[in-house]
Amino acid sequence: MTDRAAVLTGLGVNVPPHVLTNDDLAERMDTSDEWIRARTGIRERRVADDDTATADLAVEAGLRALKSAGGTGVDAVIVATTTPDRICPSTAPEVASRLDQTGVMAFDIGAVCSGFVYGLAAGAGLIAAGTVDRVLVIGAEVMFRFMAPADRSTAVIFGDGAGAVVLRAGRSDELGAFGPFDLGADGGGSDLIRVDAGGSRLPASRDGIPADAHFLHMDGREVYRHAVARMVASSRTVLERVGWTVDDVDRLVAHQANSRIIDAVGDRLGLPAAKRFLNVDRYGNTSAASIPLALADAGLSPGDRVLLSAFGGGLTWGSTVLTWPDITVG
Ligand code: UT7
Repeated sequence: MTDRAAVLTGLGVNVPPHVLTNDDLAERMDTSDEWIRARTGIRERRVADDDTATADLAVEAGLRALKSAGGTGVDAVIVATTTPDRICPSTAPEVASRLDQTGVMAFDIGAVCSGFVYGLAAGAGLIAAGTVDRVLVIGAEVMFRFMAPADRSTAVIFGDGAGAVVLRAGRSDELGAFGPFDLGADGGGSDLIRVDAGGSRLPASRDGIPADAHFLHMDGREVYRHAVARMVASSRTVLERVGWTVDDVDRLVAHQANSRIIDAVGDRLGLPAAKRFLNVDRYGNTSAASIPLALADAGLSPGDRVLLSAFGGGLTWGSTVLTWPDITVG
């Protein structure tokens, strides 16, 4: 078999300028900065203005990633999102065209907070199969718009943003090469994180929909339990597949759902706190955008061995590894 790996060659991020602090939320609902920080590690999140949709955040992140990769085009555009601009069509074709990539394959991935890792795996698979040479993978979300205004169990968690990477065909022993992937799903937990209305089961109709059915609902405690167990198991699987011990990992860049989840995962893996990266304090849980936003902030140096792990609605989960390349974040 030829050695044809997906190599990270560009990274760009984009968050909306408006900062919503915990104190701002406490003015709107029965919560407090103290509760939110203690239970989640979140201090503030970014929120898109009413005129900004997911594609708008995605395009700017994509532009920055392409620039970081040297400004050349790609053969495929994958947008991982929980909050597509519309039910139909998917968001990626518009994003691709606005990035002057009309004509290349473009599709969305919906794996909620695991979407970015699923998107990486899809892009890496297309490269490994020889179908394409360069792929733009974007995670972009306008999550806050789907929070019921009075639901303190979700509104304090989620935020908006976008991050993107460019993958190119290369060798598995190069810096930046993504290692094996572990992906999984369990539809038995599909009710734990959900938006009920707007799809084929409960369409938006002239008769309207039940109150709040178009907002996100989450059983946080159950999700928490599954998230820790699945991220630990999935991380162990990829480490075993790539032949690294936990001590070989320089940095855990996990989906930024909640600092307690990341700490519980780190504790169970035996990975010291100093190796766990956290920026959930500044952005909250940005779902499919959180891993690229974290990669951009993690202060990684060329050669650092990085473990990525995510968990989200579906239920879905996924992990992979890479050795950090010499790139400038756009
Ligand atoms: O991105 C992937 C998917 N999502 C996640 O990974 C999220 C996973 N879950 C979590 O992060 C946590 O479960 C939450 C942060 C959502 C909640 O933390 P928790 O420690 O699991 O709290 P809880 O839901 O068990 O609630 C504890 C108490 C309850 O009050 P009682 O019943 O003990 O009186 C809640 O009503 O805290 C109350 N509560 C709040 N109080 C103040 C819930 N939300 C809030 C709030 N402010 N925002």
